[in-house]
Amino acid sequence: MEIIRSVNWMREKARTARAEQRIIGLVPTMGALHTGHIALVRQARMQCSLVYASIFLNPKQFGVNEDLARYPRPLEADFEKLTAANAGGLFLPDAADIYPPGFSTYVQVEGLGDRVEGKARPGHFRGVCTVVLKLLQIIQPHFAYFGRKDAQQARIIQQMAHDLNLDAEIVVCPIVREADGLALSSRNAYLTAGERKAATILYKALLAAQQALNTGTRDAMELRRITRKIIAGESLASVDYLEIVDAETFEPVVRIAKRTYIVLAVHVGKTRLIDNLLIDPVGSDLRLEL
Ligand code: PAF
Repeated sequence: MEIIRSVNWMREKARTARAEQRIIGLVPTMGALHTGHIALVRQARMQCSLVYASIFLNPKQFGVNEDLARYPRPLEADFEKLTAANAGGLFLPDAADIYPPGFSTYVQVEGLGDRVEGKARPGHFRGVCTVVLKLLQIIQPHFAYFGRKDAQQARIIQQMAHDLNLDAEIVVCPIVREADGLALSSRNAYLTAGERKAATILYKALLAAQQALNTGTRDAMELRRITRKIIAGESLASVDYLEIVDAETFEPVVRIAKRTYIVLAVHVGKTRLIDNLLIDPVGSDLRLEL
């Protein structure tokens, strides 16, 4: 698998591939790849004739007190995983090539980007959208793939693509979980053995909400109470936020009536983990996706 390190070379390669009528897929990542990322590559391979992954640890989406400095960077292992998944190429740019001196243009999805995760991490989605737009501009993919674990990120990127008339179709893929339910995340690597066990509390809390929904609960306050109570039972965990929001706007809802997310961010020890449950009313039934 070829590694492409410069923006200009990446643009050139992608332009040639388009001229050759290749269908290009992009899987943007920050590295420390896990099975969830590889599932995105596999999905991309089903739809596209050429799949690029990018690894760029984007400084602009980390707050000052966040984990940029300690974020894992196992580049060799990442390379092997992408090769095994038959990715067509890896775009691995330097920060100085993505943000050259004088860089001063940012993308902000207003409203949607300021709620929930955006409120907890000011500036985060501005950094995400800016780098994702740049990657889409450089590679010009037909499809770009994102995981539903970062549900608000995926929704914001779809909004950006719509608002800015981008060519790429944004594809949102299911959450990939460990056997005990923990959603895969590069940040799981920070957890000690004890914290790793405790981290299943996010999944257990969402399972409790799922059970309540299946037995008829539709009141958001009651669902929050049930979910919070489960997390309160785990001494290593503390809730950053737990919200029940409209799946389009990420504004709080009072009752479950249309597509809704239960989204949560929980500190387990020093590690902040996020997860969600998608609630999709279909007629008089509910489709629930963990
Ligand atoms: O989800 C991520 O890994 C990052 O936010 C992304 C989309 C690669 C942008 O840096």
